[in-house]
This record gives sequence, structure tokens and C-alpha cells, in this order.
Amino acid sequence: MAILKSSRTSAMLSIFISYFSCSSVLLVTASFQALPSPAPGPASFTFDLPLGIGALYTGLADGRIVRYQRLRSTFVNYGYTAPNRNQAFCDGTNNTFLAPICGRPLGLAFQFGTRRLYAADAAFGLVVIEPYGGPATQLATGVDGVRFRYPAAVDVDQFSGTVYFTDASTRFNLSQLSQLIRTRDTTGRLLKYDPNTRQVTVLLRGLAGPFAVAISSDRTYVLISEFIRNRIQKYWLTGPNANTAEVLLNVAGSPGNIRRTIRGDFWVAINVQTPTVVLRGQRINGDGTILQTETFSPDFNTTLITEVNEYGGALYLGSLYPKFVGVYKP
Ligand SMILES: *[C@@H]1O[C@H](CO)[C@@H](O)[C@H](O)[C@H]1NC(C)=O
Ligand SMILES: *[C@@H]1O[C@H](CO)[C@@H](O)[C@H](O)[C@H]1NC(C)=O
Ligand SMILES: *[C@@H]1O[C@H](CO)[C@@H](O)[C@H](O)[C@H]1NC(C)=O
Repeated sequence: MAILKSSRTSAMLSIFISYFSCSSVLLVTASFQALPSPAPGPASFTFDLPLGIGALYTGLADGRIVRYQRLRSTFVNYGYTAPNRNQAFCDGTNNTFLAPICGRPLGLAFQFGTRRLYAADAAFGLVVIEPYGGPATQLATGVDGVRFRYPAAVDVDQFSGTVYFTDASTRFNLSQLSQLIRTRDTTGRLLKYDPNTRQVTVLLRGLAGPFAVAISSDRTYVLISEFIRNRIQKYWLTGPNANTAEVLLNVAGSPGNIRRTIRGDFWVAINVQTPTVVLRGQRINGDGTILQTETFSPDFNTTLITEVNEYGGALYLGSLYPKFVGVYKP
């Protein structure tokens, strides 16, 4: 009886796996669509359910987190990160200097089990929005008595609830991004927030523009990008190399965010700056093998791509400037 049950389970598992492997063969025959957003800069995406059936959420330059209503083809307000955000003053702005007033959620990650939405906000640090939206609660604004300067990316361990996030620099904030790049800043950090102790720990220092963090599906490592050094690092959470990092992959361009797919591989957003701007996505695995490369320009007309996020068979493209979310659908 037990054998019968387990063989049925493994048969179902292999059907499940082959279904999702088939669904990986997307693009480039896919059609491009721009979903208009209520403010510029949909930089990062998250979804409220696993398995490709949830709703899309994104953070905007005016401090809002919005949710896409598929049936009405429109974004609606979901939450905000600045405690005293003034809607009339902030709505629609793309001025990063107003982030300390309006907020600027750059990285987003849902924890499915609790429906808590974590955000790395450029001005307000690591925050969380409770189920059903509204104002955010600040969880951490600094570590060792020093304020974060440029919170940029976040991911959450779905099982333990541990939150991984980055502070892209200790010298420059989002409004000083061009200085961060020009001076080839190397003061970025990988950080960890433990929801049980509410403690922040620095895991890695000396990172050059870490605009990404993504935890592996087996929860043994996280990947971090370095925009300035054109590479991806792998930081081991468990095993013989726990608490150490290695260079996983050098990429041909400056990497933005890294997002895990349902299959357990990752999309990296890549910006090639010279001689002309080329925006790409590369799908890689945890061994550093490149599985797929896609070029998004000229469909996606902007100077910077922040994220490539595969969900429900579509690819969602993020940026700091345009007033739309780019989507490739099969
Ligand atoms: C960055 O710092 C400048 C100077 O302190 C400030 O005016 C600006 O609002 C800050 N930007 C962000 C995103 O915090
Ligand atoms: C991008 O630019 C091309 C060429 O100018 C244009 O055909 C296309 O509609 C633009 N796409 C968007 C999303 O603006
Ligand atoms: C920001 O908005 C202003 C005015 O609304 C516009 O002129 C400017 O081009 C925008 N900047 C970016 C980077 O989108």
C-alpha cells in the first residue's frame, strides 16, 4: 500500500515537473505588451500566490505599491511605504529626492503562507505590508547603529520566513546612482533579517552595486549581483561552505535584479551600455550555466532594465523610468 502510494506520488510529481519544464520554452516569438502604470518606474515585481496563478504587484517611483487587476486591465493601489505619505503631493512623481517623503519601494517579495509583502525601500529600509495592503511597518532602518543608504533588493525564505536584502551602498543613495556607478563604489552589503529575533545581520560586505538577491529553491544559497563588477556571486547559507561566497558567473553587461523561476533557475536582468544600450535577460542555473539569452530592445525602450521576472508563462520587465511594465506573453 505504501509502495503504491509513493509510486503514484512520484508519477504525479514527474507530470508536474514535465508540465513546468515544457512551460519554460517561452519567447521570442512571444508578443510584447506594455501595461501602463499609474506612475513611472515599476522596478520589481512579486506575486501573491505560487504556481503562476497570483496577481502582479510592483513598486513605483512615487512610493506606491500597486496590484494589477487582470479583469479590468488596470493597476489599483495596494500599499505604501512612507508612514506619512501625502497622496496629493506624491502621486505620479518620479523625483527620487522626494523619496524620504513619498517612499520608493525598489525590491518586493511576498511570503505566500503569511501573505506578508516585504519591500526594500530606498528611503525607509526594510518594511512589511500586512495582508490586504495599506501602510507598511518599518522592520529595520539600519544595522550596527548606521542607517541603510540604498536598500535595493529583497527575497524571503518561504519556509523559515528569513528575509535577505541588500543595501547597495553605504555612501550613495538612489538619488546618487550616477555617482555610485562613476566612482565604482564597493560598499554594498548583503543583509539578513530574522523575523523571530528582529535582528539584522551583515552577511557580506564590499559588494559593487548589489541590486539583486535571490534565494535558491532548496534554500542552500542566495545569488547576489554586482552591477559595477558585471558578475553574480553565490553565497552559501548551509553546507561545508556556509557563510562564504564565490563568484558564480561573469556576465556581459551590468546585472540588475535576479529572480528565481518556478523551475528553480533564475532570470538576470542585464544592461549592456556600450556602444549602444542593449537590454537583455539571461536565464541561468545555480551552477552558473547560461540556459537562455533574450534581447528586449527595441520593444522595451528605456536606458536601464532592473528586472526580468518569469511568472505564469510570461516575462515581466522592470525599469526605473518608463510608465509601463513590459510583458512578453506566449
Ligand atoms: C539622498 O540624499 C540626498 C541628500 O541627503 C537627499 O536629498 C535625497 O532625498 C536622498 N534620496 C533618497 C532616495 O533617499
Ligand atoms: C519603442 O520604440 C520603437 C521604435 O521607435 C517603437 O516602434 C515602439 O512602439 C516603442 N515601444 C514602446 C513600448 O514605447
Ligand atoms: C520625470 O518627470 C518629468 C516631469 O513630469 C519629466 O520631464 C522627466 O522626463 C521625467 N524623468 C524621467 C527620468 O522619466
